Amino acid sequence: MFDPEKFVEEKTRELKNKIEDKSIIACSGGVDSTVAAVLTAKAIGNRLIAVYVDTGFMRKNESEEVKKILEDLNVNFKLVNESQEFYEALKGIIEPEEKRKIIGEKFIRVFERIAKEEKAKYLVQGTIAPDWIESGGGLRDTIKSHHNVGALPKRMNIELIEPLRDLYKDEVREVARFLGIRVAERQPFPGPALAIRVIGEITSESVEIAREANAIAEEEIERAVEEGKMERPWQYFAVLLSSKSVGVHGDVRAYGYTIAIRAVQSIDGMTAAYSKIPHEVLEKISIRITNELKDKVNRIVYDITNKPPGTIEWE
Ligand code: XMP
Repeated sequence: MFDPEKFVEEKTRELKNKIEDKSIIACSGGVDSTVAAVLTAKAIGNRLIAVYVDTGFMRKNESEEVKKILEDLNVNFKLVNESQEFYEALKGIIEPEEKRKIIGEKFIRVFERIAKEEKAKYLVQGTIAPDWIESGGGLRDTIKSHHNVGALPKRMNIELIEPLRDLYKDEVREVARFLGIRVAERQPFPGPALAIRVIGEITSESVEIAREANAIAEEEIERAVEEGKMERPWQYFAVLLSSKSVGVHGDVRAYGYTIAIRAVQSIDGMTAAYSKIPHEVLEKISIRITNELKDKVNRIVYDITNKPPGTIEWE
């Protein structure tokens, strides 16, 4: 039986012994990296600097929300906007693994630069077990290279520390609740962010469509949960597909993109079942997206694939 109290005690001691000087931590405001930040801050106090990188692929209002989360944690933090760099690096790239590798490398180069400025020797990451398992750890096949594991560059000028490496998501949430961290129940969001929710090439326009569609899907599902119409899915979002289809607005022909809505139930993200969302909720999402993104999107589909064989994210 997993004991969060014992885990916190052991990890804090380990981190205290290991980090003799300064360290930075990659913090996205998600459950994993926030738990890792609080644990490390417990161990080394203000010798820790949390770094949030705005890649330009974040969800609507996410950077402001993460700033508030970091302020509440009472840790030193730094927000850096690297969106121009990330967009440049991903220009013309459509292959998902190639995208992931570029993103993984970009993140590390930013962290190396900040570590140098701050004279920090270590980079703490909130890596959890599924990240390295799916990235081909041990004897396993690579399903997808997680940005913080399989997509890291071969040569790095910084030493990694991963205190949550052996935990699954449900265990990380137990630790978060034990530590009283308010993001404990936040749905998972991948490090590569909307860049892997745009199938095909990433442009500011395609990311903006994915951002709006994600915001609408989240808003409507959260509303339906609050109104007691459905159970809260483990994860829920929208994906912009690269194919266009014909539609009609009034009596005018339209030719626009398709958005796929994805919502799953899971315990640890290793397997998942698609959520049986009420049709009225799906319809509301469909109407809102096609109205609010009228000139761009004219078709919405719901993904009814379990994992396996589908993965949760599309890329
Ligand atoms: P998949 O798509 O592999 O996702 O079924 C399992 C869980 O992991 C998240 N995910 C990631 N998280 N970096 C992350 O921090 C990544 O590169 C990454 N790729 C997928 C995904 O959102 C789901 O919760």
